[in-house]
Amino acid sequence: MSGALVQAALAARGNAFAPYSKFQVGAALEDAEGRVHTDCNVENATYGLTVCGERVAVLKAGSEGARKFRRIAIAADTDALTPPCGACRQILWEFCGDIEVVLANLGGKTESYRLKELFPKPFDGSYL
Ligand code: THU
Repeated sequence: MSGALVQAALAARGNAFAPYSKFQVGAALEDAEGRVHTDCNVENATYGLTVCGERVAVLKAGSEGARKFRRIAIAADTDALTPPCGACRQILWEFCGDIEVVLANLGGKTESYRLKELFPKPFDGSYL
């Protein structure tokens, strides 16, 4: 069930460092062993060095030794559920492949996708 993962993403959203956009995003990435790696967006005064919550979650999980993943939950305060940006889709594909992507908001609305639906023709190492 994704309920606990969504709750973890919502809780992680509270740690967002988003003083510029005020747009807080939380992410919770479940690895193949069932461990949950949480994170949030971290902004920077340069704007361009801002890192999205999804990307931080992947990098944090990787740095903690996780290599295989099942699902990611992404939480933001929008009625139309916030999907991962294009750059995050590329990073998710590289590390997670065709995982389940669960989008959620603060009102309890959720939607579930496969990453391949959101990112149908990815570039990856198979082309190199
Ligand atoms: N953001 C994310 O963390 N994830 C997304 O998928 C979309 C955008 C963040 C980046 C920035 O801190 C803020 O939301 C506004 O773009």
